[in-house]
Amino acid sequence: MSNTRITLGMVGGGPTAFIGAVHRIAMRMDDRFQLVAGALDVDPDRGRAFAGTLGIAPDRAYATYREMIDKEALRPDRIDAVVIVTPNFLHFPIAKAALEAGFDVICEKPMTTTLEDAEALAALVETTGRRFVLTHTYTGYPMVRQAREMVAAGEIGKLRRVEVEYLQDWLAAPVENTGAEGAVWRTDPKQAGQGGAIGDVGTHAWNLAAFVAGEEPTHLLAELSTLVEGRRVDDDAAILMRYASGAKGSILASQVLPGNGNNVSLRIYGDKAGLEWRQESPEELWFTRLGEPRQMLRRNGAGATAAAVAGSRVPAAHPEGYLEAFANLYRDAADLIAGKAVTTMVPSARDGVSGSKFVQACLMSNGKGNVWVEIG
Ligand SMILES: NC(=O)c1ccc[n+]([C@@H]2O[C@H](COP(=O)([O-])OP(=O)(O)OC[C@H]3O[C@@H](n4cnc5c(N)ncnc54)[C@H](O)[C@@H]3O)[C@@H](O)[C@H]2O)c1
Repeated sequence: MSNTRITLGMVGGGPTAFIGAVHRIAMRMDDRFQLVAGALDVDPDRGRAFAGTLGIAPDRAYATYREMIDKEALRPDRIDAVVIVTPNFLHFPIAKAALEAGFDVICEKPMTTTLEDAEALAALVETTGRRFVLTHTYTGYPMVRQAREMVAAGEIGKLRRVEVEYLQDWLAAPVENTGAEGAVWRTDPKQAGQGGAIGDVGTHAWNLAAFVAGEEPTHLLAELSTLVEGRRVDDDAAILMRYASGAKGSILASQVLPGNGNNVSLRIYGDKAGLEWRQESPEELWFTRLGEPRQMLRRNGAGATAAAVAGSRVPAAHPEGYLEAFANLYRDAADLIAGKAVTTMVPSARDGVSGSKFVQACLMSNGKGNVWVEIG
């Protein structure tokens, strides 16, 4: 029986994991993928048992990613792409093995734990010619895509300032000491990388700023703090940025501020107008032309841009949110893997390298006593 859906093998995303489940919902929303294989958990037995509950056949429920890639590569009905939803330090070896075996890759951020690995992976994507999608979630929101289109169309004028915040509170206490799975690896530099908050949520903020502004800063000054005593990575970061155009920016990335769940916000200003977006009201984009009243633009409403309309599934005012935004990344990934033209900017290995440069520059600036450094 021929299968016209793109077939996937997932690594990570076991029964207790967070983002693997989000990927599985997002990949199903437009019915263009099928999850047929997996090495789903650090515990092989738990991973195989869980695979059964997801409808993965026993002979495609693997103990390790290596086994999955080696065995799938030999099957006539081999998977099309590998989805990587493990802790950070595993992204590089899994992605490398997948690309070398000829699979496309859908990978979680941050792409790697070092800049060296990020550059090696981006080079491998080039030489293998495989498709590589980095799931920077926030680029999937229709109103974020609309903001990007409005900035590119000159609606705010000459760029003056980009402000992005990504604030959480789930690491406000030393929960890693209680064994909380996601907290343990995120606060271990060997598994998360040298960046804590800066790598985990700062890279999202960096990517969001670049996605909407259409340009990246050249210099930054970072103050990285560890506000929970004894923690081995930063958990709070304040960064100032300068653009070659003369524009300025800042990122606040913190995981220790009580009252914040996933408080992501973007404000971008030019000399003619400003745009403001918050994840907690994701369907609204506030637009203010200098000297005019604030306008609330709504997803799929009056004034919607092409990308915002394309990224919507239901009419305006029927609420969409996080899962639909994630599904937009999968929709783009499906087009990319199918060889169709993709009009939106799908986060790629190049964005992974950029995120790595950002983390490295933050660590360097902070290490030198909070000084301005060149990025890259
Ligand atoms: N795009 C986003 O918005 C977003 C949100 C959350 C997490 N993430 C990223 O997703 C990744 C996973 O984060 P999470 O919060 O789901 O972590 P998690 O700790 O909740 O889950 C990790 C999963 O990976 C599995 N795993 C660990 N080692 C493995 C191995 N060798 N083989 C197979 N499976 C293995 C674990 O058993 C677990 O099921 C991280 O890189 C994180 O930065 C991205």
